[in-house]
Amino acid sequence: MKVIGLMSGTSADGVDAALVDIQGHGHDLTVRLLAFVDTPYPRPLQRRILAACIKGTVADICRLNALLGEWFAKAALKVIAAAGFTPQDIDLIGSHGQTIHHLPAPTREPGVGLIRSTLQIAEPAVIAERTGLTTVANFRPRDMAAGGQGAPLAPYAHGLLLRHPDRSRLIVNLGGISNVTYLTNKGGLETLIAFDTGPGNMVLDGLVASQSKGRQTYDRDGRLAAKGRVNEPWLRHLLAHPYFRKAPPKSTGRELFGAPYVTRLFKEKRTRKASFEDLLATCAALTAGAVHTACRWTSGPVDEVLVGGGGARNRAVMAHLVHAFEPAPVRTFDEAGWDAKAFEAIAFAVLAYQTLQGQAANVPAATGARHPVLLGAIVPAQRDWPHRLGLDRVKGPHAE
Ligand SMILES: Nc1ncnc2c1ncn2[C@@H]1O[C@H](COP(=O)(O)OP(=O)(O)O)[C@@H](O)[C@H]1O
Ligand SMILES: [Mg+2]
Repeated sequence: MKVIGLMSGTSADGVDAALVDIQGHGHDLTVRLLAFVDTPYPRPLQRRILAACIKGTVADICRLNALLGEWFAKAALKVIAAAGFTPQDIDLIGSHGQTIHHLPAPTREPGVGLIRSTLQIAEPAVIAERTGLTTVANFRPRDMAAGGQGAPLAPYAHGLLLRHPDRSRLIVNLGGISNVTYLTNKGGLETLIAFDTGPGNMVLDGLVASQSKGRQTYDRDGRLAAKGRVNEPWLRHLLAHPYFRKAPPKSTGRELFGAPYVTRLFKEKRTRKASFEDLLATCAALTAGAVHTACRWTSGPVDEVLVGGGGARNRAVMAHLVHAFEPAPVRTFDEAGWDAKAFEAIAFAVLAYQTLQGQAANVPAATGARHPVLLGAIVPAQRDWPHRLGLDRVKGPHAE
């Protein structure tokens, strides 16, 4: 099957679209990247999304859902064209959507008991309508309904595609939030340990956007952070945040490390008499330090660290990771044969494929779900309904 994965993470920097060829059944898949295109959001749209995450009205979010559906559809059409195909050549789309809110901590509600909630938008009906392709979306809620955190979901693809036959690996995805997956050289998905470590680029991006009054959205290559010095006592204070001490399974988002956290850092900067560059340097060390805490919960040694996500391009963060994990080598996904920026999008193509195969693809060890579940909601393409979905064999009003 040719499958497109669409992803926009907590950074809300744009839509990553990966077109892959997937073959195989069960957990035994061969995946090949055919094309990758990232479509950055225009700045005003990014600002609108980030604002909606914190204080969006119902009307804002309703409209953004349809609008982002259009952007995701555009991204899908672009990657199809980049590979020299037409939509007729493609079988399926898996769309993560854009996370607007993520509340994995259960609350007790009268009449029903514990509930968890998460909201990803970018209307899959719009994606299916514009591309003519069956679209699987809303991957997280089913895992939550089964008692999980709904995140992280990419570890399934890490386990399938990034395991090394001889070495144990720590896979690090530096998105807005950073997540890690510990893979022993052997052992199945049930042995995998994975969780969100905390901020990846989210805090760094927030600081740069605020300082530059929106002219810059991130610290390119970590150049500003490289000019500063890490304030060690401040770093220890930041690493004392309860989230970093909490044992997995755990997941987090903008609710914990978003705008209010950044505002607090600017206040502390004044009392600690630090420069802006020192603040950035300290937060680059915070990202790396939070990743390193993962070693507390891994079941064995880390032989090698593989870093993906946009943050792999931040040299300041990478330098801290190299230092923290010495003597284990720290490499990027690219050095292991996978495009670092594309991997998360590839993961959602794989998850959509598995849903259509009837294969559960959450990792309960990572999310805390009570059992494996089939992920996502399917919006069928007209051409696929009902034949491709196998429903033509079902007797009913739609079966001829
Ligand atoms: N050249 C670069 N230098 C430093 N940081 C970068 C660079 N390119 C991308 N990034 C960081 O990566 C982020 C996007 O990474 P991505 O993996 O798309 O995260 P998400 O999954 O949260 O969208 C940007 O917001 C930025 O912080
Ligand atoms: Mg992104």
